[in-house]
Amino acid sequence: MSDGILLAGVIGEPIAHTRSPALHGHWLARYGIEGHYVPLHVSRERLHDTIQLLPELGFSGINVTIPHKEAVLQIADSVTDRAALIGAANTLTFTANGKLQADNTDGYGFLENIRQMTPDWTAAEGPALVLGAGGASRAIVSTLLTSGCPHIFLVNRTRARADALQDHFGARVQVADWTHIPDLLPETALLVNTTALGMTGKEPLHINLDRLNPTTVVNDIVYTPLETDLLAEARARGCHTVDGLGMLLHQAAPGFERWFGLKPEVDDELRRVVLGG
Ligand code: ATR
Repeated sequence: MSDGILLAGVIGEPIAHTRSPALHGHWLARYGIEGHYVPLHVSRERLHDTIQLLPELGFSGINVTIPHKEAVLQIADSVTDRAALIGAANTLTFTANGKLQADNTDGYGFLENIRQMTPDWTAAEGPALVLGAGGASRAIVSTLLTSGCPHIFLVNRTRARADALQDHFGARVQVADWTHIPDLLPETALLVNTTALGMTGKEPLHINLDRLNPTTVVNDIVYTPLETDLLAEARARGCHTVDGLGMLLHQAAPGFERWFGLKPEVDDELRRVVLGG
């Protein structure tokens, strides 16, 4: 065991780009907790053995990133309902009785971010229009549905992936073509981009926002740049916009609380730290 020094980290491949150590490191320093949060480069081949070893080394838990988010479900002793529903986990906790619990906090992070930035908003307010059908979309769709969103229009370049999500989540999810986005905008209460489009270095996101309602809340999970073209254009049309950085920050909080024993604050100082390096 680790002699009272608390340990946690993040496993993935690649792992060099991760901002999670800066994020958790800031919280550890701010709250004066004696602990460390480290990035661990772990291949698919070493995943199982590494996870078995970590509690013996004194780790309380770990975050999981690409490409292991699905595979860890097979290794866990227990899987939370929301991780099972999403079909992936990002937060593993080694419990006191030596068991491994897998959870998914991506949807929680998404929701907390919108709630913090838009206190009056509720998921029940009206239909959501979600762009993309990958892993992030799965977590967001799942969370919106369990939070009372009445209907979700799902648009994706590869229609089969969107159809698979509809099959998984049921009739409240309706797949639509990219070309129909302008027709859906007037009734959209929440517009979310979960694709990588608009991220620095990627292709731009091209959608015609002429029919976007100023009461629509617009969220992009991309946070490089912080204000994407989608958010800038929506803001210019009078919409309330929410950038993607908060989702990254909020999804980290439940793990920190479990492993280091204290619910951390997501505030502007943390945003500056995570953007800074
Ligand atoms: P994540 O876990 O971040 O969601 P992902 O599972 O690879 O990553 O999903 C990426 C999403 O961005 C998908 O919806 C993808 O569309 P496809 O399913 O058609 O691949 C979308 N995406 C990525 N690049 C795109 C592009 N150039 N045009 C349109 N959609 C794109």
